[in-house]
Amino acid sequence: MKIYLDTANLGEIREAARWGILSGVTTNPSLMAQEEGADFEDTIRTICGLVDGPISAETVSEDADGMVAEGVEFAAWHPNVIIKVPATLQGLEAVSRLARRGIRCNVTLIFNTNQALMAALAGAFVVSPFIGRVDDMSYDGMELIREIAAVFDQNPEIRTQILAASIRHPRHVTESALAGAHIATCPFGVLKKCMKHPLTDLGMASFLADWRKREARMALAAATAG
Ligand code: E4P
Repeated sequence: MKIYLDTANLGEIREAARWGILSGVTTNPSLMAQEEGADFEDTIRTICGLVDGPISAETVSEDADGMVAEGVEFAAWHPNVIIKVPATLQGLEAVSRLARRGIRCNVTLIFNTNQALMAALAGAFVVSPFIGRVDDMSYDGMELIREIAAVFDQNPEIRTQILAASIRHPRHVTESALAGAHIATCPFGVLKKCMKHPLTDLGMASFLADWRKREARMALAAATAG
């Protein structure tokens, strides 16, 4: 499973890019709104220069014509730009029209398997089930990933990838991989937590303490011998 970063914050993207694990970035209007004063086009172009992989830029039109117009505009910014459109009937039309022009789409706000299937049939490059928001409604977000993966597996003509979105904690990342997601898009804080383990910190502290003791013993032995 590949890892994307779910943010429009350039500082976070720069730092996570250095870790060598990022295959793409997803943004959305809410994430862009957190970056006070940042220009959308500049932000997307800059992200494309930082991460070599699909970079999702989301449309804000509610009708297919508007989504297509935005999609054509965003796709011209960089070959790695993927157009995010919502899982609505207007969104389906926009995906099929953009796909015919060779423009890749990420169908977002997926909350059931039928939406994922129909988005795939319309020509989506990826579908984004929002597992955290499903969990918030007392349903099982991971079951949604499993069900979509099962349907896609039974229909080998579907090449659409499953992108687990709305990830809230490290366990979501592991479980998405086990459930058959091709990609998980993670907030920066979740990615950092994925590498955190108290036994790693304790182990490092004890290795370094032992090394310092060894050096002190060797220095004492050298001084005594001299
Ligand atoms: C995905 O592409 C979305 O940007 C994102 O995962 C939404 O997650 P949220 O439920 O934390 O807003």
